[in-house]
Amino acid sequence: MSVKIAPSILSADFADLGAEVRAVDEAGADWIHLDVMDGHFVPNITFGPPVVASLRRHTNKLFDCHLMIEPCDAYLEAFAKAGCDQITVHAEATRHLDRSLQIIKGLGKKAGVALNPSTPLDMIEYVLDRLDLVLLMTVNPGFGGQAFIPAVLEKVRRVKRLIGYRPIEIEVDGGVTTQTAPKLIEAGVTAMVAGSAVFKGDARQYATNMAALRG
Ligand code: DX5
Ligand code: ZN
Repeated sequence: MSVKIAPSILSADFADLGAEVRAVDEAGADWIHLDVMDGHFVPNITFGPPVVASLRRHTNKLFDCHLMIEPCDAYLEAFAKAGCDQITVHAEATRHLDRSLQIIKGLGKKAGVALNPSTPLDMIEYVLDRLDLVLLMTVNPGFGGQAFIPAVLEKVRRVKRLIGYRPIEIEVDGGVTTQTAPKLIEAGVTAMVAGSAVFKGDARQYATNMAALRG
């Protein structure tokens, strides 16, 4: 199966988010990646559940919600109710990762864990059977348009071995471009988040931009 592309609306026009989401949906996006930032876990602030709920009316594509908030447990239900289908928490942002994952599964949603570039894979070893997705950060989270960190390529190969035959998506996020995408695909990713590489030019170019990433 070909790699999934999850455009990050962080790089979209925030004054026209509904139209931007419809545009990437029609251009062939597999998932819609929602970057939620709190100005505490990461040095930037974006949006919360009300914006997600409003966007829900604009597409039926899977909402891939990347929570960069600490703590996260108290907000999981609100994001589930707002329409997120898949909720990813950072291992570094929750004291009881297993509990956070149980909450997400209890809400009937797919559960993911994100790891910063410097965070070892050991963090997920004992929660693998609760996971639908592992999100390996290929930049330090907080901003779009940053440079890809090449050390994560080896981490992708290692997480693929760790997962084995479990049906867990391997997603990467940050610095995905036409230069880095082929290496990531070869290493074994099943989904790639892309912000600036998708939302460049006008909406008529989004399909071409995504096709270029798929290779
Ligand atoms: C960064 C976010 C990413 C970001 C990626 O903290 O999690 O999703 O939007 O942006 P690009 O693709 O421009 O590196
Ligand atoms: Zn993200």
